[in-house]
Amino acid sequence: MIPGLAALVSPCVVAEVARCFLRDEPFVVHGSRPSFVELASIPFLASLETLLGAWPDVVQAHLPDVADESHAVTVSPQDARKLFANGMGLLFDDVHRYALQLVPWLDMIRSELGLSAQTLQRCLVYATPAGKGTAPHFDQNVNFVLQLHGQKTWRLAPNLHVARPMTRHTMGQQVDAELGSYARMPMPDELPVDRTEFLLEPGSLLFVPRGVWHSTHASTDALSLNFTFSAPTWLDLFTAALRSRLVLSPEWRGTAVPLSVTTFEALVSELAEDSVGWSAADILAATEPHMDSEP
Ligand SMILES: [Fe+2]
Repeated sequence: MIPGLAALVSPCVVAEVARCFLRDEPFVVHGSRPSFVELASIPFLASLETLLGAWPDVVQAHLPDVADESHAVTVSPQDARKLFANGMGLLFDDVHRYALQLVPWLDMIRSELGLSAQTLQRCLVYATPAGKGTAPHFDQNVNFVLQLHGQKTWRLAPNLHVARPMTRHTMGQQVDAELGSYARMPMPDELPVDRTEFLLEPGSLLFVPRGVWHSTHASTDALSLNFTFSAPTWLDLFTAALRSRLVLSPEWRGTAVPLSVTTFEALVSELAEDSVGWSAADILAATEPHMDSEP
């Protein structure tokens, strides 16, 4: 099977999920299909017990006060087993490092979405005990959630407080200063009423757009595999390219002495003159060295 969106969303077509990606709208497909059979047959994904027995790394356990990955402890797989039995959700990070057959899926999905080569892509596995879930939040990344075992309900709602957030935020928690500078404050303390529910069962695949509010609730013990993409924004690419250019200058590398405003003024003026000749293609050449045409 060729890894990628076509296999992942079959019998739907890639154009449908690509359209949802561009519009920040959710997408879901249900039922078993060959891609699910292949991914669910990765040996250590057979069950939570199998995963805990084979996992060579630490596990994050979500503390019950907030039930969110922003409030988690890092524990051994042995301790994770006990915490799960006591109702705590678990997160297995960077699963593709231990299941290399997932890497081509990540590479292909990123390529099909046209995301930057600088994208942080990873596979995560979430284990959620029956009756538990995650508190309402939004993420700055995009997620494809493949339900492996059990049933989990996702509630998604449009985010009317901020578009295209640069960081994640959980309802009821402190808003980081930068997010607060461009979000409509205060943030809500419960999911908006125009929420949509998706019941995920083994084989279901849900695309969770960047920035949409979501919460989850597992009606049985549940295990899901996530393909997660934290893609740089135009802002990220531009500032990275700008830095790579300015770092060549001993003047720009000078220690900032804010009282010396004339020195800084000269640098900014020089930059303004120089920037007239910049092109987007030149800037992208600094961050996307292998890209030579539109995706
Ligand atoms: Fe999330």
